[in-house]
Amino acid sequence: MSTKEQGSSAEAEKVVSETTEKAGASQAVETSAQQPPVPVPVPVPVTVTEVATAIPSLQTAAEPTYTIAIDDGEGPQTDYTSSGSDYDSLYGSDSGSATTSLTESVKNYKYHNGRRYNAYGTQYFIPNDDVQQEQLDLFHHVFLLRLGGKLFLAPIEEPQKIMDVGTGTGIWAIQIAEDFPEAAVMGNDVSPIQPNWVPPNVAFEVDDFNEPWLQTPGSYDFIHSRDCHAAVSNWPDFVRNAFHVLKPGGWYESQEHTVEITADDGSVPEDNILKDWVRDLSDAFERIGKTCHAHPHIDKWMEEAGFVNIKKQYFKLPIGTWPKDPLEKEIGAFNLVNMLDATEGFTNAVYTRVLGRDNEVVAQTIKDIRKNLKNKNFHMYFRFCVTYGQKPE
Ligand SMILES: C[S@@+](CC[C@H](N)C(=O)[O-])C[C@H]1O[C@@H](n2cnc3c(N)ncnc32)[C@H](O)[C@@H]1O
Repeated sequence: MSTKEQGSSAEAEKVVSETTEKAGASQAVETSAQQPPVPVPVPVPVTVTEVATAIPSLQTAAEPTYTIAIDDGEGPQTDYTSSGSDYDSLYGSDSGSATTSLTESVKNYKYHNGRRYNAYGTQYFIPNDDVQQEQLDLFHHVFLLRLGGKLFLAPIEEPQKIMDVGTGTGIWAIQIAEDFPEAAVMGNDVSPIQPNWVPPNVAFEVDDFNEPWLQTPGSYDFIHSRDCHAAVSNWPDFVRNAFHVLKPGGWYESQEHTVEITADDGSVPEDNILKDWVRDLSDAFERIGKTCHAHPHIDKWMEEAGFVNIKKQYFKLPIGTWPKDPLEKEIGAFNLVNMLDATEGFTNAVYTRVLGRDNEVVAQTIKDIRKNLKNKNFHMYFRFCVTYGQKPE
């Protein structure tokens, strides 16, 4: 682990320890959840290390099934080097060749300002290194707390085949495999960053969801995607692909957090750097043909693809320990650590390579963002949008 990583974790542990000690008092945040929260089945951890060890999935021992879906060495990462692009690419013209071995090429990671990025598939502007993986697992914990311990909200019954698209560290896929030991679970991602020791019913594939989906049409009972908004090149196509590979009667569930900083009491000024940050991120991702704002449209895209029984819910995710309600305070505490861990990864490549900003200026901006995230007077939150729908029987 690098010095930077150690620093990040130490700070993270400190913030969670402090904030957990102060938890208590009455409800202050209202959520738009329409279902009562279900008790979380694990003891509440108080440090990031304890969060990690409290996640039982990673302690399950079995040899992994691991495959590479496709790699012709001429992957779509070269999209971003095309002439006329107004931003820089992490990828050179030597990003792959037909003779490169598959395993080697998917791990031929790109580096920028000390962070590591995917080698395979569509260029993704958020790193895949240890710091980011820790953040993904912490965000998973925040999402789980928010949904009362549930991995999904769709009314799934006895699924036989489940796919987690853009699986990240595979934490969601591993946990759902434990919940449904009879089901075959497949998680795919452009980065092979999933653990080696996983339940026997989980497999991971290196695959690019922006390319045609190779899964057998009509073969899955449940498809899940979470936090893929800034990575999907064409959302209507993505949703249509999910529809295509689902069995009749199968469900697709999208879980996306919003990229916004909201404070109902106006405690975050409009000219605060946090507001600039989310605006800049949104603009930058639009410039590269992605969006941070898929959530308002997902239900419409699902309907257009043919899904029925579509339901959509928004939940508040507080940042910081400002809420009085103990659960909201706990979510806010973990989410603050999550955001502090995420700031650099979300910002660095996007600000320097897409927006063309100077490295030193960006480093200072990141410090300022993190400082403002810790401002206890800001009663801020963003939201988590869960949308699911069914392929007609
Ligand atoms: C923000 S992470 C979310 C990971 C996971 N779904 C979760 O919620 O923990 C987005 C993931 O999408 C993956 N990704 C980005 N572009 C992709 C693509 N074109 N095809 C497949 N996966 C992609 C990234 O590598 C990353 O692991």
